Formats: sequence, structure tokens, C-alpha cells
Amino acid sequence: MLSVNIEHTREVLEEFPRLELGTFPTPLQPMKNLQTNLGTSIPLYIKRDDLTGLGPGGNKTRNLEYLLGKAVKQGSDVIFASGKSQSNLCTLAVSACRKSDLDCVIVHNDEAEPEHKVGNQLLNQLLGADLRYVGDVTDKEREALVLRYAQELEDQGRHPYVIQNGASTALGALGYVHAAMELCQQCQEQNLDLKHLFVPGGNGGLAAGTIFGAALTQAPFHVHVITVEHEKEKLKEILETFLREIAELTGQLQTYDFSSVYTIHEEYRGEGWGKSTPECVQQIYDLAQSEGIFVEQVYTSKTLYGMLDMVRKGLVEGSACYLHTGGFSALFSQF
Ligand SMILES: Cc1ncc(COP(=O)(O)O)c(C=O)c1O
Repeated sequence: MLSVNIEHTREVLEEFPRLELGTFPTPLQPMKNLQTNLGTSIPLYIKRDDLTGLGPGGNKTRNLEYLLGKAVKQGSDVIFASGKSQSNLCTLAVSACRKSDLDCVIVHNDEAEPEHKVGNQLLNQLLGADLRYVGDVTDKEREALVLRYAQELEDQGRHPYVIQNGASTALGALGYVHAAMELCQQCQEQNLDLKHLFVPGGNGGLAAGTIFGAALTQAPFHVHVITVEHEKEKLKEILETFLREIAELTGQLQTYDFSSVYTIHEEYRGEGWGKSTPECVQQIYDLAQSEGIFVEQVYTSKTLYGMLDMVRKGLVEGSACYLHTGGFSALFSQF
């Protein structure tokens, strides 16, 4: 029934050093109550990457396994990560460094450290991160400052490794090639003929890794990318670049046409990154009250709402799975 190529994908991934940071496979579970409430016969599933088992959990754990795998292999002793002060990646990066006995510097492009911290800021304090606030500069300016700080440490004899673009790089995306392979294996084990997988599209690393993994594994499911940040055309460009880079990095699928593997949906983005919509806020209540699972406003509730809306409108045939990418701790700063 399922034409999957798991062994080949595993062999490709084994070429890359990987630090074991999370608990895998993450659960693949039915969402029976949500399905009943929606009044659909389409089986609905959830892949629990909110339960990756490190810090507050979430998708970037998978990216960090490959990025820090490389960092440790090349002898790095201090890791730089950067983002807004509620960045999920930053908190996961410090958590990963604590587990791996590495120093970690976090650079936030936000105004000065607040006295009362909530969400990821509080977790960063508990994790004892070296926190630097550089003011409300652009992401590009922040990344330039990070390179300068890293150079300063290098001049002092340290060996820094800089996590770039929120860990959404071709190497980081291997974490989601791995996730796609993992999901295929679970489908085989559970005899589940999964037809649709819904994932969020932010910087695009997660989506690109998943699409590449689905293609390499010859997965039976189509990947639906719900963009929460960029307009459709822009995200398409980003994904095409990532897919080329992953192909180059792995030496696989270099002439492959990925266009039949995925579709980008723009309808659920609202006004863009971090701007919630009434539907996504309602979705947070609905999932919590039907399944006891939390989603947040930036990435995960928009993606889930997108899947359910398409199921409701009859645009999806066959079983559908929502990839829950975490962000639980950021939720506390959003209400
Ligand atoms: C919870 C959560 N989901 C999804 C994403 C999207 O990942 P990407 O930026 O690789 O598209 C992020 C990115 O930070 C995230 O924190």
C-alpha cells in the first residue's frame, strides 16, 4: 500500500553528525473529539512535535540536532542564537547547550530586558542564558551584531558557532527530512494511509525539510504549507532555494521537480507574522477544550485552523495530519 523508501533516507541522513537532543519518534495520535466536533468522516491526526522532549519542546529541537552535531564535531565551545525575545529557537538553543555542556549566548533584537519576564524570557532566565538585548533593530542588523560578538570571542581563543536564520538552514532542515521519514515509518507501523500533512511556513526551513523528506522517502502524503509569514510567491521562492540547497548538501534529488509534492496556502496568514486572526484565537480554545492540547497564535493555531477549514470545505480527501510544532511557552506572552 505504501511506497516508501525509508532505508535510503536513513542512509543519506547518517552521513551527517547528529547530536541526540530530543525524544523521538514523537507521538502520532488521532484527534477523535476534534473530528466528531467538525462532523467529518475524514480521519484527523496530530504529529506531536510539541513533545520533542527538550526544554519547552517544539520543532527547532530537530534542527538543532544537526546544527549542534556539526558544531561539536568541529570543536565549537560556545553557541550563538538570536531572535525576538519570545523566540522559540533561542530557548531551545539554550536548553540544548545546557544538555550538551556548551556555553550559549542569546542575542535579542528587542528593547532592554524586562523586570517581569513571561514565556520564553522567563525560561531563558531559568536556563541561565547569557542574554544580550540589542534594541529594536532588523533581523539582518541583529545577525551582523551576532557575527561581531562571535568574532570578539574568537579573538579571545574561544570557538564559537553561530546559528543563523532561526536555525532554518539547509543543514538544520535535515531535522525535518528526518521527521518526514519518521512519520512514514509510523504510518507503516500503524497501517495508516495518510494522504495529507499540514505544516507551518515561517522562514521555510521546516517546510522545505519536510517536502524534501517526503520526496526522498516517496511518502504517500501531500505536504500542505500554511504560510504564516511571507506571501505565497515569496515563500515559494524561499522553498525552492532551500530545496536546491538541501539537494546540494545531500547529493540527492538534484534534478527533481518538487512541485507535485507540496502546495502553499496563503488564506490563513492574516496580516502576517505575529498578527493573530479571530479564527486562530478561537482555534486555541477549540483544541484545548476538545483534545487538551495547546497551540499558540504565531505558527500553530493558524496551521491547524487551515487544515480544519479545508476539511470542512471538502477540499481534502483521505486522512489528514496536523504537524504540531510547539511554541507552548510563547503562548503565555500572547494573551
Ligand atoms: C513553533 C514554531 N512553529 C513553526 C516554526 C516555523 O519554522 P520555519 O521558520 O522553519 O518555517 C517556528 C519557527 O520559529 C516555530 O517556532
